Amino acid sequence: MTNHNTSLFCPLLPLAAVLALVSVTSVAGAVSPSDLQKIMEEERNYMKKKVIDICHKYVPDLPAYGSNNGLGNFIKLETSIKLGGLSNYSVFKLATHSGTHVDAPGHFNQTLFESGYDVVTLHLPALNVLVVDTPRDKNITDMFLIFGIISCLPTYLFSSDIKRSLNIPRGVKRVLFRTLNTDRRLMYKKEFESSYAAFTSDGAEYLVQNTDIKLIGVDYLSVAINPKEELVKVHQLLLDPKDIIPVEGLNLDDAVPGVYTIHCVPLRLVHGDGSPTRCILFQ
Ligand SMILES: *[C@@H]1O[C@H](CO)[C@@H](O)[C@H](O)[C@H]1NC(C)=O
Ligand SMILES: *[C@@H]1O[C@H](CO)[C@@H](O)[C@H](O)[C@H]1NC(C)=O
Ligand SMILES: *[C@@H]1O[C@H](CO)[C@@H](O)[C@H](O)[C@H]1NC(C)=O
Repeated sequence: MTNHNTSLFCPLLPLAAVLALVSVTSVAGAVSPSDLQKIMEEERNYMKKKVIDICHKYVPDLPAYGSNNGLGNFIKLETSIKLGGLSNYSVFKLATHSGTHVDAPGHFNQTLFESGYDVVTLHLPALNVLVVDTPRDKNITDMFLIFGIISCLPTYLFSSDIKRSLNIPRGVKRVLFRTLNTDRRLMYKKEFESSYAAFTSDGAEYLVQNTDIKLIGVDYLSVAINPKEELVKVHQLLLDPKDIIPVEGLNLDDAVPGVYTIHCVPLRLVHGDGSPTRCILFQ
């Protein structure tokens, strides 16, 4: 295992921000004692936080949507030290929806795609995020997204499905849904598994109309369940408001339900309908 400090995307970290400040200062002169004190304090605060990496590694056997062959050999060494090159230098070719990735609003809507709603338009400030476990015997339907007020009422009024609803009140903007996919370790199986758990169209419609959720994290390759009509409908429903961001293919193995701060940073691919992304949780 690599050390968290070195394996993370550094510009995200407060420590890195302070170091950047220091390097600016040092151009002008020296690092002042108060700067040094700040650095040490930041370092101590940072070390206290638990960081959970919620991305899958890109390996040839990582599953790819609809394929039995996984990603395959997506990276190739162009020059190598062994063969006399100055450096090892590789080129990779990946679908924009590979591994842990985000969808842009234009992904399933031509009008939005032509209007420029690509991954660069996504707004991803760091916010609190809730990780919830979903009922393992169901997809994510409207039944499970009935929140707050209803769950305060006497439970005997409701069917057992509603009683087990996820209790996510208004105001919660980011939710990672940990489902049966995590238990089944589907992201570790090369062959695409079409029976993955995800949103149904009634679940998507409910989320758009009755919640404030803007970031939806799921633990397999799609936010929408598999049959083609549902796949299209769920994406269109979720992406049409232009400010809801599906984050797909997350690794929620170590993310026990709770409240975290999340950072997700996709590549700024102009015209990108999606992009691989790095996502980490701070506890
Ligand atoms: C550099 O390239 C060689 C092949 O020429 C490979 O064996 C080695 O793993 C590469 N090192 C890194 C750090 O990529
Ligand atoms: C979720 O939907 C998929 C596609 O319709 C189906 O194969 C799967 O069994 C459903 N999962 C659950 C847990 O009901
Ligand atoms: C595509 O986006 C446009 C603009 O927001 C919207 O009017 C239209 O209903 C969307 N189409 C579908 C199929 O979601």
